[in-house]
Amino acid sequence: MDESKRCNDLSGKEWLQNSFSIWRDIAKTKEEKAYKHPASYPAALCEKLIRTFSKPGGAVLDPFNGIGSTTAAAAALGREAVGIDLNEDFCEIARSRAGESENVRILCGDSCELLDTLPEDYFDICVTSPPYWDILNMKRSADQRASVNYSDKQADIGNIANYGLFLQALAELFEQVCRVLRPGGYCIVNVMDIRKKSSFYPLHSDLASVMQKVGYLFDDLIIWDRQSDYNNMRPLGYPYRFRINKVHEYLLIFIKKDVKSVAVKAAEVYDFLMDLKAQGGSFFIEAEARPDRMNSFLSEYNARHHEALTTRSEGVICLQSDADKWGLELRLYVAEKPPAGLDGFGKNPVYRNEYSYRLNDNRVIRELLDRGCRLGEN
Ligand SMILES: C[S@@+](CC[C@H](N)C(=O)[O-])C[C@H]1O[C@@H](n2cnc3c(N)ncnc32)[C@H](O)[C@@H]1O
Repeated sequence: MDESKRCNDLSGKEWLQNSFSIWRDIAKTKEEKAYKHPASYPAALCEKLIRTFSKPGGAVLDPFNGIGSTTAAAAALGREAVGIDLNEDFCEIARSRAGESENVRILCGDSCELLDTLPEDYFDICVTSPPYWDILNMKRSADQRASVNYSDKQADIGNIANYGLFLQALAELFEQVCRVLRPGGYCIVNVMDIRKKSSFYPLHSDLASVMQKVGYLFDDLIIWDRQSDYNNMRPLGYPYRFRINKVHEYLLIFIKKDVKSVAVKAAEVYDFLMDLKAQGGSFFIEAEARPDRMNSFLSEYNARHHEALTTRSEGVICLQSDADKWGLELRLYVAEKPPAGLDGFGKNPVYRNEYSYRLNDNRVIRELLDRGCRLGEN
């Protein structure tokens, strides 16, 4: 056996056990149940995921670190890890659980901003569990008691009431996770489907769709059977409407596609744009977002390009703060038909219709900006 090619250090017996698609043997310990966090998962689950999906020594990330189950597991395995959470009290608990390890950093703040400060292509694995939409702001159907939410902060993704906006926020955050994961690295996301009264929201499949759009391969999934954690169950809907009592969660397994394809694509688009300009043509790059997101994007853009664009500059569309869009959208407009093989461009019939084709791809357009293209007309 070539040890250098191993993808993990599991024995053959552990490999077989972990390959079964239902994981049943993992529940929170008494100590974990005593922590004041409304939705933490067991460190043992993280340990099993980290050991299965990465090599010894690989760096670990959790952008929704809560009380630090992922970072505690990483510390126990002697791994380097970064965990981010908005809530200061959770971060304090996470620090105490990870111990004095120099390798483990707990960052307190909004992951949408802090992920930007981490190096590209660095982490071997991300293990995380985002807020399950805003369900902690709802009454619990089992006993009608109010739940305790994570925080009242605006940046808290668990406070977004609109399901579409919630998915957009996750898409934007996981796109940043994709940047800091190494190509081929795993991103394992624990979620559960949601019911609000008569409406069912299949969060696991909706999230899988948005993750694929931001650059991940959807590799597989594991069912985490939590039936042993539930007691005092009620026959939901009895006797008028049969309802499912959910006693399982999902571990969605994504892989970062080789980022070289983004770099290669950006290089091809760049060559096309430079040919266009050499023939006297032009192209247009536009950024659209709500004010908070736009301001952070513009300060990063201005610092990097030594410019002083404002929310009123050409190419900057600053939406209302309650607009029906969460994330930053970058768009490239061209008048000429892109050559065959440059995929991703669509027809642009409605808006800025002096340009017939449009590319919506934040990662490619970010690379174009790095190569010297500018917001507005070029
Ligand atoms: C499901 S919990 C994660 C619990 C964690 N797996 C554990 O075992 O402790 C989701 C976490 O996301 C955090 N959160 C929500 N929005 C955030 C954001 N924008 N940036 C960082 N953390 C956020 C919440 O404070 C909460 O602790």
